[in-house]
Amino acid sequence: MATPQEAIETALTPTSPSTSPQSLPLHHRVAIVTGSSRGIGRQIALHLTQLGARLVINYSSDNSAPADSLAAEINAAAAAAASLPRAIVVRADISDPTQVKVLFDSAERDFNSPVHILVNSAGTLDSKYPTIADTSIESFDRVFAVNATGAFLCSREAANRLKRGGGGRIILFSSSQVAALRPGFGAYTAAKAAVEAMTKILAKELKGTGITVNCVAPGPIATELFFGGRTEEQVKKIIDESPLGRLGETKDVAPLVGFLASDAGEWVNGQIIRINGGYV
Ligand SMILES: NC(=O)c1ccc[n+]([C@@H]2O[C@H](COP(=O)([O-])OP(=O)(O)OC[C@H]3O[C@@H](n4cnc5c(N)ncnc54)[C@H](OP(=O)(O)O)[C@@H]3O)[C@@H](O)[C@H]2O)c1
Repeated sequence: MATPQEAIETALTPTSPSTSPQSLPLHHRVAIVTGSSRGIGRQIALHLTQLGARLVINYSSDNSAPADSLAAEINAAAAAAASLPRAIVVRADISDPTQVKVLFDSAERDFNSPVHILVNSAGTLDSKYPTIADTSIESFDRVFAVNATGAFLCSREAANRLKRGGGGRIILFSSSQVAALRPGFGAYTAAKAAVEAMTKILAKELKGTGITVNCVAPGPIATELFFGGRTEEQVKKIIDESPLGRLGETKDVAPLVGFLASDAGEWVNGQIIRINGGYV
């Protein structure tokens, strides 16, 4: 199997008219993927690059290494194909309105282009999985600040600044927990339910702009967020519940986002798409 870098190089190397960079579905479009230093967002960033997009890689913590190494990987492949740098890194906490503005400012300035695509993958979870009775106000506020307020702030900025007239895409992230409604996920699921409601309203409010708004709602996906605070036994139980007998992988989600981001996905608008191997 090709490594991610080999896959990017293959995608960027013009071998025939059908695989030239200009023929890629997201050629030259600018995409911001929040929370793309790790996990699902990282895989989405790689996938959108393979589809031709120019990428803003985002994270919020003190550790810039994962985001920097992803950008270096993407830009090395671009250099090998003699195209311009295709990824920049912007540290910004999506729960802070000023930092979200800076995120969009950086994208527009560095790529000298409006942003076409926002994928808001950044998210957080209380890995103690408290019941509602045991949820502290600090935990509730943190989970809502990133998952609900963060989605709102990124959506608001995108609604005001995304390219009009075709190709504009807002792709938010919820969770299949909104359908599964399991104990221990009260604040998280409530915050994601808010994102689902905003998705449907924003899609209607953006009538006439050509911008579509959708929400991807995965089931269990093997990332740090999923494994945090879980025992091997708990993980095994979740795998046993899956009709396909495995956890989801980040590569199970990225192609769906790629489709929604492309012109071919335009008719999917205002939808919540659960992607969970039949878990719910
Ligand atoms: N994995 C699953 O089983 C699963 C299931 C359903 C839904 N989801 C949803 O899918 C999305 C991605 O989850 P994941 O599993 O990929 O999570 P992950 O592996 O924990 O990665 C989270 C990413 O978000 C960034 N991030 C966290 N807080 C941020 C903030 N305030 N501002 C900007 N970036 C921030 C992290 O970087 P820093 O730490 O550097 O900030 C990291 O890049 C989330 O919205 C999650 O709720 C995941």
